[in-house]
Amino acid sequence: MGGKDGPRFLSPAGTLTFDRNSMCGAPARTVGWRHPGYIHTSFLKELWPDSKYTYRLGHRLLNGTNIWSKLYSFKASPYPGQDSLQQIVIFGDMGKAQADGSNEFNDFQPGSLNTTNQIIRDLENIDMVVHIGDICYANGYLSQWDQFTSQIEPIASTVPYMIGSGNHERDWPGTGSFYGNLDSGGECGVPAQTVFYTPAENRAKFWYATDYGMFRFCIANTEEDWRPGTEQYKFIEQCLSSVDRQKQPWLIFLAHRVLGYSSCTYYETEGTFEEPMGREALQELWQKHKVDLAFYGHVHNYERTCPVYQSQCVANASDHYSGPFKATTHVVVGGAGASIADSEFTTSNIQWSHFRDFDFGFVKLTAFNHSSLMFEYKKSRDGNVYDHFTISRDYRDILACSIDNCPRTTLAT
Ligand SMILES: [Fe+2]
Repeated sequence: MGGKDGPRFLSPAGTLTFDRNSMCGAPARTVGWRHPGYIHTSFLKELWPDSKYTYRLGHRLLNGTNIWSKLYSFKASPYPGQDSLQQIVIFGDMGKAQADGSNEFNDFQPGSLNTTNQIIRDLENIDMVVHIGDICYANGYLSQWDQFTSQIEPIASTVPYMIGSGNHERDWPGTGSFYGNLDSGGECGVPAQTVFYTPAENRAKFWYATDYGMFRFCIANTEEDWRPGTEQYKFIEQCLSSVDRQKQPWLIFLAHRVLGYSSCTYYETEGTFEEPMGREALQELWQKHKVDLAFYGHVHNYERTCPVYQSQCVANASDHYSGPFKATTHVVVGGAGASIADSEFTTSNIQWSHFRDFDFGFVKLTAFNHSSLMFEYKKSRDGNVYDHFTISRDYRDILACSIDNCPRTTLAT
């Protein structure tokens, strides 16, 4: 590893793997099992912010010779609070597919290649990608993890590829997942937490904070309980409350299942327009800590709300917001690849639902500086923008009070 024309450095790697006994059931433990090989993780330290580095991965054979990968390059992250152009792509539920259609017997993620290709095409203008759960839909057929990582290699070798946990990574009956269904095909989270590195205190639990320049991301895990009194609730509160908004004004909450608002028929049938028990207590935290945006996947479509609190629009939905924070804008962006067939919207008129798209797509956030953020929703088929808005504000606007987020000023002087 080294900077442009600078000296080369060797950085040691730690190596992890897993075996069949750490799979929770079939097919991961039976016909879907294939040894994953060895996953090497190296931490590159003392990088200069925003500097370009090249690197390759090497392995020393028993006979003492070294084999090397091809050369990759990346730009080091800005330091937290740094004022520079920062561009983040966010989506859920992408999966993988074959350009030659050779997997037509199980073509469940038809939008996946379009999304991947649009991101690769725009990669020069992307600093980080967040894939919020339902990563590759291997569902217990482990070789599919290699297929997925090979599909995203041009992206993940160049920018941070951060993941959240979804039902297709984690859920399995009798293993402590919040939902006792079979969606992980017996993987129970093990491939996801081993193949991908997350800066979580406990990688199996999958909730973590990550900073990128002027952004703070709080990534929750809906496949574990998030309600008050749980470890995860404490984490969410800590993540949201510990950010210095003068340095990192853009505060983003992310989770796989829709803890906020969705008007898809699935949640309408539940009678909730959210994951049951989702926002019940969390909405107080989002409001108190002035979370700008909350993103979800799981529902395979796109939807943006007005700034909403307790199911009421606190401000009219708009293409431009300015001045003091009113309430969080909630966004479903689960249309990155997996079939949209069961993700229709309700035909009822929902006041907080501002913009809907029943198609494949993803979101891009651009922070120009500490007071200007642009949001764009792009379709995967053409990469064009179909919904967008901007936020303009100064630090005093974040300090100012709105509903339920700080005490009134005292009358004493
Ligand atoms: Fe899901």
